[in-house]
Amino acid sequence: MDNNIYIETYGCQMNVADSELVMGILQNKGYNITGNIKDADVILLNTCSVRENAEQRIYGRLGNLKKIKEIKPATVIGILGCMAERLRKDLIEDKKMVDLVVGPDEYRRLPEFIDTAFAGEKGIGVKLSRTETYDDIIPFREDGLSAWISVMRGCDKFCTFCVVPFTRGRERSRTLESVVDEIKILSQKGFREVTLLGQNVNSYKDGNNDFADLLAASAKVDGHMRIRFTTSHPQDISDKLICAIAEHNNICNYIHLPVQSGSDRILKLMNRTYTIDHYLKIIEKARTIINGVSFSTDIISGFPTETFEDHVMTLDVMQQVKYDGAYMFKYSPREGTKAFKMDDDVPDETKTKRLNEIIDLQHQISFELNQNLIGTKELVLVEGFSRKSDDFMAGRTDTNKVVIFPADEKLKRGDYINAEIIRATSATLFADTVEPVDAVKTKEEIII
Ligand code: SAH
Ligand code: SF4
Ligand code: F3S
Repeated sequence: MDNNIYIETYGCQMNVADSELVMGILQNKGYNITGNIKDADVILLNTCSVRENAEQRIYGRLGNLKKIKEIKPATVIGILGCMAERLRKDLIEDKKMVDLVVGPDEYRRLPEFIDTAFAGEKGIGVKLSRTETYDDIIPFREDGLSAWISVMRGCDKFCTFCVVPFTRGRERSRTLESVVDEIKILSQKGFREVTLLGQNVNSYKDGNNDFADLLAASAKVDGHMRIRFTTSHPQDISDKLICAIAEHNNICNYIHLPVQSGSDRILKLMNRTYTIDHYLKIIEKARTIINGVSFSTDIISGFPTETFEDHVMTLDVMQQVKYDGAYMFKYSPREGTKAFKMDDDVPDETKTKRLNEIIDLQHQISFELNQNLIGTKELVLVEGFSRKSDDFMAGRTDTNKVVIFPADEKLKRGDYINAEIIRATSATLFADTVEPVDAVKTKEEIII
């Protein structure tokens, strides 16, 4: 039987969630999911186009896969995800590298396209949809602690550097009911954490329900279950949303709020639609309303025309906000975007130098923030044994920091503990005394 499917996932968490959808769809059609590429009749790469190096990685990987195809010529090799939208012609016609190219809104028809590829034709499905949300598809998930749930698809923001609106199409949301039902199933299966995903979750809309309503409804399903969400756009973060986070103990006090640059001039060129003043006001408001809230961000260095002064403004915002974490990138021009037409005039060495300064500063800030936690008690969800040793276990705080603590046979994955922090690096907290906690009560009750 030609029915073993192997899938590799690149890019953001939306792709992780999409791969689970794809596996769900294929399993329903009788395909078998294999974790071993050697057994595969169909090899799928779920790809990312966000930066040049993401695409280069896939081209490199396709080079390796050619060897598999030489040994087993009947193997179907397919590209899913964002590169499918951007590079279908290049991949199928010019470089003749793959048999199958299917974009993010055509996964329902994947079995059909696979049949086409087995019949020796090229399977191509790259139409974007205004309505597809895969609401009714049950994703294939291994049992675990933590699950990703896409609550909306696409993006209408059109930041000038970004390919996502082109590869993922227009914004559309799932129904609140279908998300809540999915969380109920996950809760029954023993999952303890869900992350609600969207390129821009604040734009979520289902009739009269907005994202704050969805968060509140998700939090009510199971008080033992942590609710996380990403990504929030600074323009749309509402007071109602901030209050929803504050009101529900199991909604994590952690907001990923990409700033991209500290310079209003650059933000305008990026079409980010907020100023630093507005951005800092949101942070201030959230800090007043949500006890102990922490922030992470995305930053791009070397956007066209970025001067040394603009760069210093980025460092300055980082100092002011003191992010718990940051994803930091060099600007990479993407064909089809507005910024692609701008002169990519910051030399690569300057981009690298600025990026390194940004990374160094973030390390320093993360280190300081973590040092401040020494002596405090943190509510930690136990994830299991630490990667390095069975003498230690690992878990995460509400603010998504990793905590390492001595293993205890009374503890298992999915338990909550109260951990006293004794040591910290920029990336990890270490605890010694740990006390099991029955339930996620109010944080004030637990952390005395
Ligand atoms: N929807 C999310 C994430 C988009 S992609 C958001 O709006 O924040 C994740 C991050 O990649 C972006 O936040 C941005 O910092 C970075 N990114 C996107 N396009 C890029 C490009 N052309 N060059 C460098 N970094 C980019
Ligand atoms: Fe890209 Fe901007 Fe949309 Fe994020 S909000 S996905 S950066 S266009
Ligand atoms: Fe990459 Fe597409 Fe996600 S471009 S970051 S996989 S939405």
